[in-house]
Amino acid sequence: MHDDVEKVLIDEDVIEKRLDVLAECILEEFCGRKFVVVVILKGALVFTADLLRRMPIPLEIECINVASYHGATESSGQVDFLDAKLPPVGGRSVLLIDDILDTGRTLAAVGQKLREQGAEMIKSCVLLCKDKERAAEVEADHVGFHIGDEFVVGYGLDFRGLYRNLPFVGVLKEKIIRNPP
Ligand code: IMP
Ligand code: MG
Repeated sequence: MHDDVEKVLIDEDVIEKRLDVLAECILEEFCGRKFVVVVILKGALVFTADLLRRMPIPLEIECINVASYHGATESSGQVDFLDAKLPPVGGRSVLLIDDILDTGRTLAAVGQKLREQGAEMIKSCVLLCKDKERAAEVEADHVGFHIGDEFVVGYGLDFRGLYRNLPFVGVLKEKIIRNPP
């Protein structure tokens, strides 16, 4: 699997250190207020598990399953909600977590849905933020790392369902993208 990677963009140690700081910032932001974490599956799974273990406070975890890539390396432009029921966030403070902010459509669509569900306050956090123009007007409140506009995998992020379990964030070899395993 590691052979399929062209270059490591952010290695494990760097992610670990950044998560310590990110967790502190988020705890400060919520300032003793109870909140529910809404994890956008599946990409945010690995990041969230590591981040929340740095937050020794009472919190609840809910998941929301959306898809927008459908096996390609560029967003399809449509965000599909895959769950029959949305998380119960009415009247609650929410920390919304995703793996990456790209076109912004996912964060905008999920944020909108949670507001419709009556969420009182929503703060967002992403591991990665692609520095580019967004299709939807949205930015994350907390960002792990800013990266360029390239397709990345690892630490939760996939290409055709694979590579989520790489411990680092990296870029795949061109031949893998052209001829997927
Ligand atoms: P957005 O809706 O375009 O902002 O994209 C957000 C979603 O697209 C993320 O939750 C990811 O699942 C996926 N995505 C965006 N960029 C990448 C990437 O470089 N690698 C893997 N998945 C990505
Ligand atoms: Mg995702």
